[in-house]
Amino acid sequence: MKINDFKLECYFGRYEFTAPYLLTQSDCESMTIKELLSMEPGAEEKYLNQWLGYTETWGDPELRRLIATLYKDMTADDVLVFHGAQEAIFGYMNVLLNEGDHIIAMYPNYQSAYEVANSIPNCEFSKWYIKDDGTKWTVDFDELEALIRPNTKVIAVCSPNNPTGYTFTNAEIKQLCEICRKHDIYLFSDEVYKGLELDGNKREWMADNYDKCASLGVMSKAYGLAGLRVGWLVSKDHETLEKVVKFKHYMSICDSAPSEFLSKIALKHSDELLERSIQIIKNNLKLIDEFFDRYPSLFEKKPLTCGPVAYHKLLIDMPVKDFCQLAVDKKGVLFLPSDIYGMNDQYFRMGYGRKGVPESLAKFEEFLIEEKFV
Ligand SMILES: Cc1ncc(COP(=O)(O)O)c(C=O)c1O
Repeated sequence: MKINDFKLECYFGRYEFTAPYLLTQSDCESMTIKELLSMEPGAEEKYLNQWLGYTETWGDPELRRLIATLYKDMTADDVLVFHGAQEAIFGYMNVLLNEGDHIIAMYPNYQSAYEVANSIPNCEFSKWYIKDDGTKWTVDFDELEALIRPNTKVIAVCSPNNPTGYTFTNAEIKQLCEICRKHDIYLFSDEVYKGLELDGNKREWMADNYDKCASLGVMSKAYGLAGLRVGWLVSKDHETLEKVVKFKHYMSICDSAPSEFLSKIALKHSDELLERSIQIIKNNLKLIDEFFDRYPSLFEKKPLTCGPVAYHKLLIDMPVKDFCQLAVDKKGVLFLPSDIYGMNDQYFRMGYGRKGVPESLAKFEEFLIEEKFV
C-alpha cells in the first residue's frame, strides 16, 4: 500500500516539541498519571499491581462497558477499542473501501478520513465542503445529496470538526442519518472532540441514530489524555466491527494494559474531566475573543461553540502559510495554516484547550507588534 504523507503530522513532527508557544493544539490540557489516579481512592495501588500481559483485542471488557455508557443505547458488545483514534480510522477505511467505491468526506477534515481512499486504486473521493458564510462555518445538505453516486459506500464526517469547529445540531445529526439510511450508505462519524459543548447543548452520538454508523471516540482530545493512546469505534454494525478487528490483528493486536486501566479511571470521572477541559477552553475563549476584537483589520474571527479548535481568517495581505512560518520562526508561536488541510486560502487553526494559551497569545501579540503588522 502506498499512502500520501500525513501533512498535519509531518508539520507537527517538525514543531510540536520544539516550538514553545502552541496556539493550535487540538487536545485539551493533559495531566500526570499521579493526578489521574488521585481521582479514585485506592487506584494507585491497583495500578501498580496491573498485570502486564497481552490484553483482549476487542479491549478490556470493563473499559468497553464504560465506553458504552457514554451512549444512549449501546452495550459493551457494540464497542471495539483501539490504540488511539488514528488506528480506528485506518482500520475502518481499509476494511470498508475497495476498488470502484466512492467516499464523500466533509472537507476540510482530518486527513486520514479520506487519504486511505486515495491510496486504493480507482477508489474515488468527493469533498463535501464546509463553507465560510462570512461570519461562521456552514454546511449544505442538498450539496451532500448531490454528491451521492450509486457506488457511494461511505460518508465520513467530523463533528465538532477539525479544523473549523463546525458542529452539527441534533436536528442535523438526524438529517444526516436519514440521508445515509435513504441511500443505504455507511456513515463514519469522527466525534473525537465530543463532550466539549460550550453552548451547553449536548449533542447526541451519531451511532445512536443510525445502525450503519460507526462513532469514533478517544481519550486524547476532550479528556486531555492523548498519551494513553486509547480510542474506540462504537456501532450496531457488528459485521463491520468483526472485519475491523481482523485488521487490528495486523496493527496493534491489542491495547496497552496500563492505558486501559487509566482510561477506566478517567471514564469513571468522565463528567469531571470534561468540565475541567470546558473551563480551560472558556477561559481561553474570553482572552482570544478580546484579542481578535483588538485587531479586526488583521483577522476575521469565527465563533467557537463546541470543541477545542476554531479556524480563523487572516486578512493580512500575505499567504497564511508564510505568516504562520514567520510566527514560528521569529517567536516560536505555532499555528496550522490551511495548506496543511489541502486548501489554498487564508485560514489558520487555533487551539483553545491548553493552559499555556494566555502566555502564547501574549507572545503572538508581541510578534504582531515587532513585525509591524499593527
Ligand atoms: C479529528 C481527529 N480525528 C482523529 C484524530 C486522531 O486521534 P489520536 O491522536 O487520538 O489517534 C485526531 C488527532 O488530531 C483528530 O483531530
